Amino acid sequence: MKPIIFDVDTGIDDALAMAYALNSPELDLLGFTTCFGNVSVVEATRNTLAVLEKVGKQVPVYMGAKQTLMRGEKDGNSKHVHGEDGLGNTLKKAPMAQAESKFAPDFMIEQVKNRPHDITILAVGPLTNLALAIKKAPEIIPLVKEVVIMGGAVKVPGNASPYAEANIIADPEAAEVVFSSGLPVTLVGLDVTMKTLLPKTKLKEWRATEQKAAKFFADMTEFYIGFYESNYPGIGGCALHDPLAVGIAIDPSFVVTESMNIKVVTEGEEVGRTVGNVEDDPKIQVCTEVEANRFLDHFLSRVIG
Ligand code: BDR
Ligand code: CA
Repeated sequence: MKPIIFDVDTGIDDALAMAYALNSPELDLLGFTTCFGNVSVVEATRNTLAVLEKVGKQVPVYMGAKQTLMRGEKDGNSKHVHGEDGLGNTLKKAPMAQAESKFAPDFMIEQVKNRPHDITILAVGPLTNLALAIKKAPEIIPLVKEVVIMGGAVKVPGNASPYAEANIIADPEAAEVVFSSGLPVTLVGLDVTMKTLLPKTKLKEWRATEQKAAKFFADMTEFYIGFYESNYPGIGGCALHDPLAVGIAIDPSFVVTESMNIKVVTEGEEVGRTVGNVEDDPKIQVCTEVEANRFLDHFLSRVIG
């Protein structure tokens, strides 16, 4: 089993990614760490605990950054994408469990030091927690086995601006810290995630299973598909951004990658853009092609448990 620290900003696709990971025997989830992003960090922590409760699993949750490295609170919110509660307005009551007291970046540092060359960090929100961890303890950089990041748009347009993807524009300086650190990053950007679509017909199948979590996930995902249908007419589903990062942590053969260096634009109209170049010993594995149907079948075989 692969030991994983899973960094989330729990909105709807994070929740689907969590369920996929929690139901995957290849992954050993050491802890979830939370970040502002789709919602505030307090809401992301609550949502992470709520999803764990729905899936019926116990994994410790560590609250992390409430704001960006250098820009204070993030501008705007993603409530039009993920709902008022971040979970498509499905949350009926607060979860019973509580987060641990340790700050998320400190949990990352502690775990990586305890298990050198062993841990995969899976990050599907803004990169603030990981940036804080490596700024505080740069000695962990060579000790991290692998970092799989959902973020960026290298050869395709952005989704939060014509240039930038949402997780990167949410904290461009944090992303730049991570991409220039030498960490062994696989970048799962819109280049591939916009090709992995969950069709609405699947929600009916989930409801028909009568599994405990199925209705919750179907209702939540219906909200998310509604956003995609109005913003990308004719798209035929919602993009499985965060779940694809989980899929790649389980089975990297879902994608083809190209080695690049990534620079993040931190000023001006193109802020948040991830610019790839292949010069100077490129270190980041950028996903450029995906076997979308094979991935979708794998995701569907696990997400509802
Ligand atoms: C990313 O942004 C968030 O809205 C999603 O959860 C995903 O991590 C997609 O651009
Ligand atoms: Ca996310």
